[in-house]
Amino acid sequence: MQDRIRNAAMRDRIVSAAEAAALIQDGMVVGMSGFTRAGEAMAVPLALAERARSHPLKITLMTGASLGHDLDKILAETQVTARRLPFQSDPALRRAINAGEVMFIDQHLSETVEQLRTRQLPAPDIAVIEATAITAEGGIIPTTSVGNSASFAILAKKVIVEINSAHPLSFEGMHDIFIPTYRPNRMPIPVVTPDSRIGLPYIPIPPEKIAAIVMTYKSDSAASIASPDEDTVAIANHLIDFLSHEVKMGRMDNRLVPLQAGIGSIANAVLHGLIESPFHDLRMYSEVLQDSTFDLIDAGKLTFASGSSITLSAAHSRRIMQDFDRYKPHLMLRPQEISNHPEVVRRLGLIAINTALEFDIYGNVNSTHVMGTQMMNGIGGSGDFARNALLSVFVTKSVAKGGAISSVVPMVSHVDHTEHDVDILVTETGLADLRGLAPRERARIIIQNCAHPDWQSSLQDYYDRACAFGGHTPHILEEAFSWHIRLRKTGRM
Ligand code: COA
Repeated sequence: MQDRIRNAAMRDRIVSAAEAAALIQDGMVVGMSGFTRAGEAMAVPLALAERARSHPLKITLMTGASLGHDLDKILAETQVTARRLPFQSDPALRRAINAGEVMFIDQHLSETVEQLRTRQLPAPDIAVIEATAITAEGGIIPTTSVGNSASFAILAKKVIVEINSAHPLSFEGMHDIFIPTYRPNRMPIPVVTPDSRIGLPYIPIPPEKIAAIVMTYKSDSAASIASPDEDTVAIANHLIDFLSHEVKMGRMDNRLVPLQAGIGSIANAVLHGLIESPFHDLRMYSEVLQDSTFDLIDAGKLTFASGSSITLSAAHSRRIMQDFDRYKPHLMLRPQEISNHPEVVRRLGLIAINTALEFDIYGNVNSTHVMGTQMMNGIGGSGDFARNALLSVFVTKSVAKGGAISSVVPMVSHVDHTEHDVDILVTETGLADLRGLAPRERARIIIQNCAHPDWQSSLQDYYDRACAFGGHTPHILEEAFSWHIRLRKTGRM
């Protein structure tokens, strides 16, 4: 207890989860820790959901990103979540969002706290933050994610801290909490390399703001990452060949430039592919550190990884947490506005690798909306990185749902990343380097290199007929969504 709550007077604030949850009232804005299933407070939200079964209440729930332990499911099913931002990935919450029952505000992950600070969004009434420990001064040492926790704690009127003693005390020192100064006279954010340490190892708040402390013992829920398969290995190989070419052209050396890799199985597999690559002394300036980050460290390929969360499969989590001191010198977790900050992403010159649901023959990318209407997860950090990276790469398999859906379409049904933000597209069939190409040149290379053979000739036919209408970006407006409409009617594009 002395190690976990170092300010003796604060130990009087230890209460049960139900007592802490009683501080949350109907209509409140609640900021909770948690980022891609890592570092979320669990006991208080579960107690809140339990209370809502007999005494209904609704809140606006803000987090860093998605929550683990089915919390988004439970809070959606008990109808506690009325509004949700900035990201989620839970099937039950997704259903409620797509049914119009939960209002979901899908934001660039670097932006939420900027909007909070400038009072464009209502400040959290209360923050619920998972911690490794509380320092003698009342500073909160986060756990496996930082996300938006620091700004939630700083801006909220009251803070509930869940101390999770399942996490090792050696997490202390892994975090770098830096909050930018207010605009318009903001100083530059002084991150100049992925390992720049610019802030404090804890979240600084006045101790009197901590209204309740709840003691817990839980592991993060495991990431459900599919293992690399033939297609994702092919995607990784195309990308590695391309990067080798960039090295040969003298645009970077064998250490590459710092890497960002998005969530999901494909991005994880691509990073995994770097283990067998000729590159070395790699660095990451990313958002989520997945299994592949640790495999690259083990392989001696990656020297440093900066992120906002550590999200691991069960097997990796067991292994890495047991031996955490060995990995700690290679890691740093930052607030998501810093890990994803456009200023820093542009300064460091990243290779950003994110996943598309579909892209079109001109290079516009849809990462969020199935059939242009059904929310999948959200844009997450992909836009923060894609617009500002040195090389913005989007990967996807060329077909989905057993080949019924082509991921390359005449016109995307929703645009998250415009053609202006997309440099490289990769599927298992090949890679399209779009840099310096006009739309008509892009279409030829995307169809030729990235489309699945089953759909290639139909795409070529669409493009050829579209050219008859002329234009800088030729389209047949009557047909642009005909592939999606056919899918809705027949189950196949
Ligand atoms: N139309 C319909 N469904 C499609 C599709 C398409 N064009 N392409 C893929 N899907 C479906 C897959 O079939 C799969 O469905 P299932 O869960 O029922 O099996 C699901 O989408 C996920 O696709 P998968 O191929 O497994 O990829 P993934 O796990 O790598 O996730 C995204 C892909 C796009 C959903 C995910 O990367 C994402 O949410 N991205 C946006 C946020 C982001 O990029 N953050 C990164 C910054 S760190």
